[in-house]
This record gives sequence, structure tokens and C-alpha cells, in this order.
Amino acid sequence: MSEQLKKSSALLLKLMQSRHSVRMFSTKEIPIEVIKDCIAIAGTAPSGANMQPWSFVLVRNKKMKTAIREEAERVEQEFYDTKITPEWREQLRPLGTDSNKPFLTDAPYLICIFVQKYGIKSDQQQVKHYYPSESAGIATGFLLSALHQLGISTLTYTPAPMNFIAKLLNRPRNERPYLIIAAGYAHEKYSPPDMEKKKLKDILTVI
Ligand SMILES: Cc1cc2nc3c(=O)[nH]c(=O)nc-3n(C[C@H](O)[C@H](O)[C@H](O)COP(=O)(O)O)c2cc1C
Repeated sequence: MSEQLKKSSALLLKLMQSRHSVRMFSTKEIPIEVIKDCIAIAGTAPSGANMQPWSFVLVRNKKMKTAIREEAERVEQEFYDTKITPEWREQLRPLGTDSNKPFLTDAPYLICIFVQKYGIKSDQQQVKHYYPSESAGIATGFLLSALHQLGISTLTYTPAPMNFIAKLLNRPRNERPYLIIAAGYAHEKYSPPDMEKKKLKDILTVI
């Protein structure tokens, strides 16, 4: 039994080690039901006091993807021209990123994740949310893991500032834009940057 378990965990580790962010997507379609299941999996994540302080907006509409890309490239241009520090530029160099973001229109789906800073009851009263950012981070991890296990690639994307996405998607005032996850199949010509993960011994202390 424990031998079988060890084999299973080693296999799962291998599968998760094959995940990497993708910055060049194929435009090949993916059934929306598959993405919805993955978002439902994200919704099973633990959250502070089970408040589930997250909202997902699934964008597949071409016009909306183009609008998001245009705004994102505008803020990215400003970031690369005036805001980026020399240290940050150096750290981004191996990723080869710049202000062009074609993945925002090529990927069949943009999953826009919002953190609910507080809840709003039907009588408009506010409800406190506990650890909303931590909870949304865990839900995002569930989402990325589910997509990867189905062979779907992702890019976690964070244009700064990101307020434009709340405006474009007409989100309520209790929501803060958190992350944009581009999801689709990797472009056949894409090869990820050569990057290493820390070794287990460098991130784990067993006592
Ligand atoms: C919170 C967060 C924000 C990120 N923002 C961006 C981004 O704006 N643009 C980008 O190209 N990659 C972004 N990434 C992807 C990281 O660059 C990537 O995860 C990291 O280089 C490790 O590579 P891997 O995902 O292939 O393991 C982000 C990742 C995280 C977790």
C-alpha cells in the first residue's frame, strides 16, 4: 500500500514538474465545459471562514480580449519605459518579456480572477472576509494545477496597475483585480526559458 502511494506521489511530482508558464499560445479552441470544471475545482479551495472571497470572469469574446490587450499593452509600455527598476529589468531578462502581449488575444480564454475584499449581502450589508488574498491564491493554485493536469497551458499575468480590468469587466466595488490567467494550448513553436526550481532541500526543513 505505501509502496503504491510512493509510486503515485512520484508520478504526480513528475507531472507537476513538467508545468511551466507559456507566453505564446496556439489559437486552438478548448471546450468551455473543461475550463468551467477547472474553475469549479478552484472553487473547492479552502478559504478563511469558508467565505470563498473570489470571483472568476471567463473571457472568450474576441472583442473583449482585444480591449484587454490594448489596455494591458498601454500600461506595460509605461511600465517598461518609466517604472521598471534596473534590478527588475535584469530579473525579467531571461523571460524575454516586453510590452507586447499577443497571448492576451491568442489564448482562447482569459480567466480574470478578482478578490472580494468584503462580501455584500442581499440587503447591501457588508460581510467581513478573512484572509481574502491568501484564499484567492490557494484557489488559483487549484486552478493552475487542474488545467495543467489536463494538458492545458497557462500564463499568470499581472499588468500593473490592473484597475483597468475591473472597469472593462464592470466589476462591483468590493472586488479587487487579482490575476489574469491566460489558458490554452502552448504554441508549437514555444520553448520555455531555461529556468530551475529550488531543490527540495533548499525549501524544506523536516523536524
Ligand atoms: C503572482 C505572479 C505574477 C506573475 N506575473 C507575470 C507577468 O505579469 N508576466 C509574465 O510574463 N509572467 C508572470 N508570471 C509568471 C512568472 O514569471 C513565472 O511563474 C516564473 O518565471 C516561473 O516560471 P514557471 O511558471 O514556468 O515555473 C507571474 C507569476 C506569478 C505567480
